[in-house]
Amino acid sequence: MDPDEALRILDQELARGLALVAQAETLVALDGAETAVFGRKAPFSAVQRSLRDLSESDRRRVGQRTNEVRQTLREAIEERRRGVEANREGILLEQDRIDITLPGRRLRPGSLHPLAITMERIVQIFTRMGYRVVEGPEAETAWYNFDALNIPPDHPARTAKDTVYLDVPGRNDLLLRTETSAMQIRTMEQQQPPVYVIAPGRVFRQETQDATHTRVFHQVEGLAVDEGLTFAHMKGTLETWAREMFGPEMRVRLHPDFFPFVEPGAQMAMTCFVCGGSGVGCHTCRGEGWIELMGCGMVHPRVLENVGYDPERYTGYAWGMGVERIAMGLFGVPDIRTFYEGDVRFLEQFQELGLTR
Ligand code: DAH
Repeated sequence: MDPDEALRILDQELARGLALVAQAETLVALDGAETAVFGRKAPFSAVQRSLRDLSESDRRRVGQRTNEVRQTLREAIEERRRGVEANREGILLEQDRIDITLPGRRLRPGSLHPLAITMERIVQIFTRMGYRVVEGPEAETAWYNFDALNIPPDHPARTAKDTVYLDVPGRNDLLLRTETSAMQIRTMEQQQPPVYVIAPGRVFRQETQDATHTRVFHQVEGLAVDEGLTFAHMKGTLETWAREMFGPEMRVRLHPDFFPFVEPGAQMAMTCFVCGGSGVGCHTCRGEGWIELMGCGMVHPRVLENVGYDPERYTGYAWGMGVERIAMGLFGVPDIRTFYEGDVRFLEQFQELGLTR
């Protein structure tokens, strides 16, 4: 290589190298610049290799310049490296920058489901009257769900047509509870009178679903057993509850009904809130004018005997109310299925109620 040509290349490479280093914004880019300047295939290396072919005086001249250029470029690279490293934190901060002056995305508050609100209100009224809340299993045995409640073996409610049985090897007595009444037995087994409990919970039935029936629904069971309890105590308790729940103007009706675990048995209904009680063409009360809220009655002596209570000494009353029916009345919801569709437009309407429970 001609020595003048070599010197020209060195000047060129110095300028090119300084420019590359100055442009490098990251450590990776800087390593790239270094390779471009000093790599084996770079013009600078070619000049270096050509030195040995030069005459001694040319070699000194070109060699000195080579050292100067190498030195200048190395220093530029090192200085740039320190700069980039110091700046790395700044770059990361810049990339993560958030504009704190932007308005935030507001989280919409959730709310309780109308059934949860209803259940809560029912429970609150009774706990204020001194009742204690008990809870039990949704998978029950036939003994607790039927036999102990004086429901005979051939009762139609026990067939698979009405009841969901569980397919558990070696057991044919397991089912999804069809009523919270099983909790009457479980509670009385655990304690002696006086008993004043309510048992809220989910129940399951094989049903054709319509405006007032779903296969899964909720009940609140109640049980009072003490000395000297009469039908009048039951009526007073349940009417007090109804007035608290729906307001003093709400009309309720108590009329005879049959349930195997009570004697006498009754049913409490309220004026249909859709048709106002006329029943004319009403799908909600199916022409009755009344909406059934609960079954109730005086605990059957045989049920007391089944848990070892003395029916000569103790009497009691019990009830089982349907939470969905009550929620329909409370909020004016004409179709029970609405509660289970999960439509936000429906659920949103309970926001305030749910928060002020
Ligand atoms: N278990 C009954 C049902 O699911 C409701 C019921 C009626 C419960 C009378 C009671 C009662 O405690 O005394 O239809």
